[in-house]
Amino acid sequence: MAEIGRERWSNRTLFIFAAIGSAIGLGNVWRFPYLTYEFGGGSFLIAWIVGLIIMGIPWMMMEFGIGRYFQRSAPGVFEGIGKKWEWLGWWPVFMAFLIVSYYTVILAWSLHYAISSATIAWGMGEAGAAGAGDYFFGTVLNLSEGAGVLGGFQWPLVGLLALTWGILFLLVFRGARHIGKIVFWTVIIPWALLIIILIRGITLPGAVEGLNYYLTPNLAALASPDLWFGAFSQIAFTLSLGMAGMFAYGSFVAKKADITNNAFIASFSNCATSFFAGFAVFSTVGFIMQALSIPVGDVSASGLGLAFVTFPVAISMMPAANGIIGIVFFLCLFFLGIDSALFLVYGGVISPVMDKFGLSRTKATAIICAIAFIVGLLFTTGGGLYWLDIIDRTACFYGLLITGALACIVVGWKFGASKLREHLNETSDIKVGAWWDWLLKLVVPAGLLFVVVYGGFMQDIPAPYGGYPLWAASMIWVILALTLGLSFVLQAIKTKPSKEEAKK
Ligand code: PFF
Repeated sequence: MAEIGRERWSNRTLFIFAAIGSAIGLGNVWRFPYLTYEFGGGSFLIAWIVGLIIMGIPWMMMEFGIGRYFQRSAPGVFEGIGKKWEWLGWWPVFMAFLIVSYYTVILAWSLHYAISSATIAWGMGEAGAAGAGDYFFGTVLNLSEGAGVLGGFQWPLVGLLALTWGILFLLVFRGARHIGKIVFWTVIIPWALLIIILIRGITLPGAVEGLNYYLTPNLAALASPDLWFGAFSQIAFTLSLGMAGMFAYGSFVAKKADITNNAFIASFSNCATSFFAGFAVFSTVGFIMQALSIPVGDVSASGLGLAFVTFPVAISMMPAANGIIGIVFFLCLFFLGIDSALFLVYGGVISPVMDKFGLSRTKATAIICAIAFIVGLLFTTGGGLYWLDIIDRTACFYGLLITGALACIVVGWKFGASKLREHLNETSDIKVGAWWDWLLKLVVPAGLLFVVVYGGFMQDIPAPYGGYPLWAASMIWVILALTLGLSFVLQAIKTKPSKEEAKK
């Protein structure tokens, strides 16, 4: 393949920053705290750490490594392993597409709150705290009574979504080299902002109560398979696995770069960020409990709203600098997410489409950004939050884990885990032993499929997910089947060589 023509990260630090920057995102500050909260705090944390070490790191090494080996994005990798496997590279591309279509809507919420923080639009003091939920679900989202009632667009969100896509388009079409440079700042700035929020959070009265909930495990809860389903889904989401992107990342790495090391650095620094963001969030949850005298379990009306209800409440109740803290927090969320969205759409979707259809970057970027914006409009309607939840269940719970398990099986058995390990070890300071082969071939796929079956199918088949009407919850299966079918269609279409390759 086109090793010479392929674009490259300009140096090792940029690559690591780009990998960390793409991994750290809304997953750390929005999704991690809300899942930890929903699944009961400390026990979820244990499952999440186990998932990181046993599943996440070996899986990430696989995606990076095989991407570098073939020098192609996900579909090209699987086509390289065997023509009949190309679909397995496309399925995660669809997942990346679905995820980025709602991810950008959450970025639009963040912008909305960064703006409304200037005037603390949901109110100050006790009144603001009591009104923050209504502000989010009522004013910002105009939440309808169910998934079947879309109830019109929320125009401010539509505008901010268009703005987000405009920014992404400008950032993406210039390519990986530029992305590396931007990402440096989008990692450093949010980290600085998170430190400010954390200090403010842990000095609030009541913080300890929230932190107890966050850190105290309830061992009995570890027996529940859906907690593990949630934890593994979050590990995949936060490490950007199962979304095709990391294959493309690996393909941008020079042949001599150290993948193993990078995988360790990227996953640990990413998870450290989540753990750290958890302190900021849960100390604030504790503050709210005390301020409004309610028990922990009742704090947020809906899990998805944790960041967007709890933080505004806390902001209203702060003694001073309310507006500034609000602006800082929500801009922080936006910056954290923008580079992740950038890579999600670029590495996960645009790069595979360019490789397959021989399209120029500008053309592919324009087409994909436009379609994703249109799909994302669904989430800016009054029923949007329900659909966001259903699509998250489809893509991030089922999609990532199923495609991830299959990818590990095909790479492990068909391509050969030991061949890939030798490829990784050639350029790495840390040499991985034969144990890794068995993690990849057996432990990771078995673990992922186990939670999909016991935590997923066995819950969502007998009773519709989330209490939604049957037709709405069934969309999970419809979308999974449809995207799988389309992956086979794409496999059947002949790959067009890019202009560079055609010239050779
Ligand atoms: N890992 C990111 C997060 O936690 O927000 C999401 C993500 C970014 C997924 C980039 C995939 C990707 F390529």
